[in-house]
Amino acid sequence: MCGIIGYIGTEDCANLILEGLRRLEYRGYDSAGIAIITDGRFEIRRAAGKLDRLAEALRGEPVSGTIGIGHTRWATHGPPTELNAHPHRAGDVVVVHNGIIENHRVLKAELLAEGHTFSSETDTEIVAHLVSRERGRGHGLVEAVRLALLQVHGAYAIAALDRTDPETLVAAKNASPLVVGLGDGANYLASDIPAILQHTRRVVFLDEGQMVVLRRSGATFQHIATGAPFEPKVQVINWTPAMAEKGGYRHFMLKEIHEQPRAVTDTLRERVRIERGTVELDGLNLTDEQLAGFSRAVIIACGTSWHAGLVGEYLIEQFSRLPVEVELASEFRYREPCVDEKVLVIAVSQSGETADTLAAIKETQSRGSHVLAVCNVVGSSIVRLSNSNLMTHAGPEVSVASTKAFTTQIAALYLLAVKLGLARGTLQPGRAAVLLQDLIEVPSAIETVLETPASEYVALARRFGNATSMLYLGRGTSFPIALEGALKTKELSYIHAEGYAAGEMKHGPIALIDESVPSVVVCPMGPHFDKTLSNVAETRARGGAVIAVTTPSGAERIGSDADAVLVVPEAPDHVMAFLTAIPMQLLAYHIADFKGTDVDQPRNLAKSVTVE
Ligand code: G6P
Repeated sequence: MCGIIGYIGTEDCANLILEGLRRLEYRGYDSAGIAIITDGRFEIRRAAGKLDRLAEALRGEPVSGTIGIGHTRWATHGPPTELNAHPHRAGDVVVVHNGIIENHRVLKAELLAEGHTFSSETDTEIVAHLVSRERGRGHGLVEAVRLALLQVHGAYAIAALDRTDPETLVAAKNASPLVVGLGDGANYLASDIPAILQHTRRVVFLDEGQMVVLRRSGATFQHIATGAPFEPKVQVINWTPAMAEKGGYRHFMLKEIHEQPRAVTDTLRERVRIERGTVELDGLNLTDEQLAGFSRAVIIACGTSWHAGLVGEYLIEQFSRLPVEVELASEFRYREPCVDEKVLVIAVSQSGETADTLAAIKETQSRGSHVLAVCNVVGSSIVRLSNSNLMTHAGPEVSVASTKAFTTQIAALYLLAVKLGLARGTLQPGRAAVLLQDLIEVPSAIETVLETPASEYVALARRFGNATSMLYLGRGTSFPIALEGALKTKELSYIHAEGYAAGEMKHGPIALIDESVPSVVVCPMGPHFDKTLSNVAETRARGGAVIAVTTPSGAERIGSDADAVLVVPEAPDHVMAFLTAIPMQLLAYHIADFKGTDVDQPRNLAKSVTVE
């Protein structure tokens, strides 16, 4: 959701900024722009639509300069037109912004009364005017930005330039993510790491209420509230640039689906002690006694991460008998949640920046709960805010539709479930060793699922891709997998798809079934197989086509009762979700590819949802 790039150095930076914006495309956007200082004047190019339009504008009227900022905008205030695209200018100042200025109406009225004129409908333009007003009062750019921000309420990450001061790039953060890249004679700014990874791996994640002044010679940091300087924590990122590239695949999503064996392996690495039947969770700041003392766990998350949380609920309850609730962060945050220090809160998030999850974390911390973040991005807001963390090691996930982050989140929750079971005495090391052995066999079982020829999925996409509605059904952990399958399908191919607990089918969704509504039934051989098979029969009896996702022995039993079968290897029930998740992802991918939708950046969606 909105991407920011900044550069100050000695290189001509228009292409560098454009390239950085391309690496932020996954965040979701609908217009883009760039501002560069050239000989004491601004060169600003903006365009509605995708970055190719901005590139075209830059080809038409090239710009050059060694200090600049760029932006991809995901429209909130005002439609995605060129006029509303960032950067926004007021006097000598330009600003780009990610987030929402909540008191924009009051501020705009005040500025209008003073004679300021506006050329866009955005809340961002107000910030440019506020900074310009402070400049007019005699403050330098850094102080002008600081004083302007003190007047602003809301979520923001901003970057600002002044054409009369081409030696300074100022940026600030409150809620929306911003990372500073430290180079040699050049410094960088970005909403996310992949955008600057090919230039530097030394980064500083800005925290809420912090600002940075970038010069060619270095970066200085200060607090927005007081202007007081502070020494930042510099981190070295070990992701390689290649990890954020497509690597020969047609889409990031397909690449990321295929990275899952590696991603799950990396998430388990050095944490599993099979011989002792234990797990070691770096980042978990809780003793076994503390783990044993919790009365309940609450998992908070959004979207795909919420589905991983639902799988985690089954695992934690089964292994440790600790009661678990799984909550949508957007609902939970406003519910005056019943949590206290006896409740372990587990926040699951790929990006670590989701606004609703962040707000829910704060809500639970204010009530005394310990928050454990299950997260993929080191240094992200959620990791920094939480009391403990359990990092997933999926590597950078670029496609908006989450895939490898999902299976690594399940892997992390599985490890936590075993840890809790051992601490609470519901698992003995012998049993834990068996569960861990099953877990470390998951990556190679995923490899097997990935060996299914693409032609099987392509054929299904051709056969069912024109449906306007689909159902996804499952029981046990196959229920959240069905929810995830439906979410993937609607995100990517815009087909209306609903996920349901198969046992609920008779309470409503069965009314939808006819020849035009295919159902994907997740029914691997296991404790729920027979019951789910009845759902297959009920669906077929009403003329609905069934795609069964099952194991070889399940396929044998189903025979011709399904219209199509996607097979995953036999495995114990507690690891089955890892395997059945893969056909959900591949089916949604191939249907979207068949329909010709934008697989990696589906319409209206954003990778990192930093507003409510
Ligand atoms: C957006 C993304 C989803 C993701 C959700 C939660 O909707 O498009 O893929 O599952 O946000 O994001 P998080 O980063 O907190 O996991």
